[in-house]
Amino acid sequence: MKKIIMDCDPGMDDSVAIAMAMKSPELSLLAITTVNGNYPVDVTSKNALKMVELLGRTDIPVARGMEHPMVRQSPKDPFTHGVDGQAENFLPEPKTALSDLHAVDLIIETIKANPYEVNILCTAPMTNVAMALNKAPEIAPMIERIIAISGAFGLNEYAFLNATGDTPQSEWNVYVDPEAADIVYHSGIPMTLIGLDVATHFGVNFSEEDLKMLEISANPEARFLRQAIRFVNERGFEAYCTVIDCLAVGVAIDPTIVDTKPFHVGVETKDGLTLGMTVRDGRHHHIWTELPMLDICVWAEYERFLKLLVSMILA
Ligand code: BDR
Ligand code: CA
Repeated sequence: MKKIIMDCDPGMDDSVAIAMAMKSPELSLLAITTVNGNYPVDVTSKNALKMVELLGRTDIPVARGMEHPMVRQSPKDPFTHGVDGQAENFLPEPKTALSDLHAVDLIIETIKANPYEVNILCTAPMTNVAMALNKAPEIAPMIERIIAISGAFGLNEYAFLNATGDTPQSEWNVYVDPEAADIVYHSGIPMTLIGLDVATHFGVNFSEEDLKMLEISANPEARFLRQAIRFVNERGFEAYCTVIDCLAVGVAIDPTIVDTKPFHVGVETKDGLTLGMTVRDGRHHHIWTELPMLDICVWAEYERFLKLLVSMILA
């Protein structure tokens, strides 16, 4: 089993991703750490607890993390995940307590207790991970890989068509805390970056049969996803919005779901038009080799991914 930490900001798609990770027989979810992102950290922490209770996995610690980006004010998400941050599923108030540890410390302790074995799935601004690396730089070589929903790399028209940040070419998780992304990108940790290029243009959608199965399933997580799809559809968005972060879980389960290519990548941390933009140096000459070399997703097998996702949620 692959050991993972989920660093997230639930958020409807983070919530479905948590359910998927908890149910996967291939993954061992050691900890969930929450951060400011889609919503303030109190909301994202409560929503993570709601998911562990929904799935009966209160054995998994949930730790509350950073309240703000490292050096900036938190922007307001132009996209809504509903008044509860979970597509208005209105799950019961959680009874389970948060971990006594801060998310940054839980990340550090979990990595040290499982050296060279843990993948961090980062489906949120990278504030917690950057702070953990600042506080305990010795953990960097002990992290097996970071798989992140992060960036937009201009590989195809979809990279910026559905840009989620609030500048024309930024992705939300990097846009919220570009300084944190810059630190993590430069950490030397092997990284798989799933950008908007592949995270937001599903060549396939949920079939009518999938939707019906989700609707009639006895699993509350299936009905959660069905409601999320209804929620985004009613607001003029497509169903992919409900499962963006799930692609990180899919890649953790089966890395062959995506094709990756190594590129030198930089993060724009200056204010203005390009704040939060992830710039890929794809030149064959005069390359900025000082930029970190990261594995960028260039394609995903959506059909296979959706099949995996639906079967896991219905299981
Ligand atoms: C990211 O933005 C958030 O709204 C989603 O949860 C996802 O992590 C995509 O840019
Ligand atoms: Ca997220």
